[in-house]
Amino acid sequence: MVDLTAEIGGVKFKNPIVVASATPTMDAIRMKHGIDGGAGAVIAKSLFGEAGRLGRKFPRPRFKLIDYREYPDYPKSLPHAFTLRSLEECSAFDYPTYMDDINRTKDLIKDDGVVIASLSGSSLDEWSEMCQLVNKTNADFVELNNSCPFAADMGVKMGAGAVDVTYEAVKTCAGILKKPFSVKITPQANDPVAIAKQVEAAGAYAVNMSARFSGIVIDIETARPVPFGAMGGYGGPYLIGYGLKLVSQAARELKIPIISGLGVWDWRDIVAYTMCGATLVQSAAAIMLQGYKVTGKWAESLAAWMEGKGYKSLDDMRGIALPNIVKTADVPRKPENIKATIDTTKCTRCGICLRSCFYDAITLTKVGAVINPDACDVCGMCAEVCPEHAAQLQYV
Ligand SMILES: Cc1cc2nc3c(=O)[nH]c(=O)nc-3n(C[C@H](O)[C@H](O)[C@H](O)COP(=O)(O)O)c2cc1C
Ligand code: SF4
Ligand code: SF4
Repeated sequence: MVDLTAEIGGVKFKNPIVVASATPTMDAIRMKHGIDGGAGAVIAKSLFGEAGRLGRKFPRPRFKLIDYREYPDYPKSLPHAFTLRSLEECSAFDYPTYMDDINRTKDLIKDDGVVIASLSGSSLDEWSEMCQLVNKTNADFVELNNSCPFAADMGVKMGAGAVDVTYEAVKTCAGILKKPFSVKITPQANDPVAIAKQVEAAGAYAVNMSARFSGIVIDIETARPVPFGAMGGYGGPYLIGYGLKLVSQAARELKIPIISGLGVWDWRDIVAYTMCGATLVQSAAAIMLQGYKVTGKWAESLAAWMEGKGYKSLDDMRGIALPNIVKTADVPRKPENIKATIDTTKCTRCGICLRSCFYDAITLTKVGAVINPDACDVCGMCAEVCPEHAAQLQYV
């Protein structure tokens, strides 16, 4: 029997899957759905301080999916690389309603899952007041959301626009909070891992690497950013590579646990994040598009895969990819043991590889595409583009 449990600051998680702070955690009923669906924890949508209260009123519409419905097999199968854009800054609740809702969530969920409150202040006074209020709730854990991508654009010194005061804010909260807490880091700073190190020094129990970027999509017919006209959160599975980079870098530098999860789409992504050093893996976009129950399916698939591989617990797997991640300078430049080949029995002579071979190494013959080994650079592009998998790299 595989052990999927995890622990941070004495709080036990039945599995590492966390419903991230987003629309699916907007209130107690939704957070109960999150835990019933199979996740180990839910992070409530963030409470903004009074300075950011404009964010409690959401723009309508506020979601845009890019490269999603365009997928040829949609909706029979779903694309694995798309963007979810949104502008939904924080919880719609004021302070008292938020705290009541956290208590209600815990009443509904009981010990079936971990309830995490998410706070986002724009001054030390706001942070302090929120921490004092959340201490009085039954939240199991707290996240300090220092990553909101919209705050600066709203004219509020918060999140991605307030990384210069992160240490001070976290230190202040650490002195007040009576619950273990993580800090959510922005990916939009020059060096997010350096901020994570400050957060560790300030007393955080864990870091969440990381929030999303902000960006725009321009409708070229109207020359307007769609759908709401302003910068919006910019996330989804296309971002997973950046998330894995941040987690693996942070895992090397930090002693505290790492909560991860940019661009998770299925259970394999949870494996990858764990192998890069994550303790918990959060997801928003995938749950918004696949439903709450997907987390239970991920937990099952994860356990089955680990069983097959002989991993008994997440600890067995955590960080095992790190020694394999080498520095750019250490990547082999021209190994002698690789060559590009084309299996002419599979080649349909479509010509796709020709247009992507910038070394003019491929010729289309009557029997199929053929590679001139003297011209071939072994760049690997033909193997990536060939729809028939006829072009391949062979390790000799
Ligand atoms: C619609 C939406 C609303 C979000 N609201 C919040 C929020 O209130 N607080 C927060 O910390 N993160 C918020 N996020 C960011 C998510 O918590 C999470 O960090 C991010 O979406 C993870 O990437 P993924 O969507 O690729 O899984 C939101 C994300 C989305 C898509
Ligand atoms: S590996 Fe690169 S250089 Fe060689 S044939 Fe393929 S695309 Fe051309
Ligand atoms: S892309 Fe593949 S199938 Fe098409 S010509 Fe090249 S090797 Fe043949």
